[in-house]
Amino acid sequence: MTRVAVFPGSFDPMTNAHLDVARRASTLFDRLVIGVLNNSRKAPMFSVEERVGLIERCVADLGSHVSVAAFGGLTVDFAKHHGAGFIVRGLRAVSDFEAELQMALTNRKLAPQIDTTFLMTALEYGYVSSSLAKEVARFGGDVAPMLPVPVADALADRLASEPRV
Ligand code: PNS
Repeated sequence: MTRVAVFPGSFDPMTNAHLDVARRASTLFDRLVIGVLNNSRKAPMFSVEERVGLIERCVADLGSHVSVAAFGGLTVDFAKHHGAGFIVRGLRAVSDFEAELQMALTNRKLAPQIDTTFLMTALEYGYVSSSLAKEVARFGGDVAPMLPVPVADALADRLASEPRV
């Protein structure tokens, strides 16, 4: 039996916590599709194409069974499209749990055949989030512990080109 999972998220941008979860999931599933949500109601710092490209560079060493794709609409439809029986989500702390439980139960209601699996982020990345990394970078802090190198570089470039207020 081939075990296929999707790992959906905003990934604006991918952090070391996301990458850690992707790495763990890549060892558990035969195929892993990282899904980048293209949400026109949010104003992301990076376009969906940029986010996909950055993730592709970050996961290049995980193997050819790991791929990255943009998606819109429901995560369960994205999972069905890829023949996935599992949704992977990372948990950093207890504070993540409530929202994640709600999403997992919603997804189960929508598609009972698809199970959500939670992977605990490594302890050293438990505090890392995309929004905090952007804030730290914006004010000149060191984001090296939080972000993969290609992402940290892209973020520095993006902030350098932002108009200063
Ligand atoms: O990285 P994020 O922002 O925590 O990811 C949230 C995401 C993309 C997994 C969630 O918003 C999502 O699944 N969006 C797609 C719409 C959907 O399926 N909604 C119903 C289930 S919550």
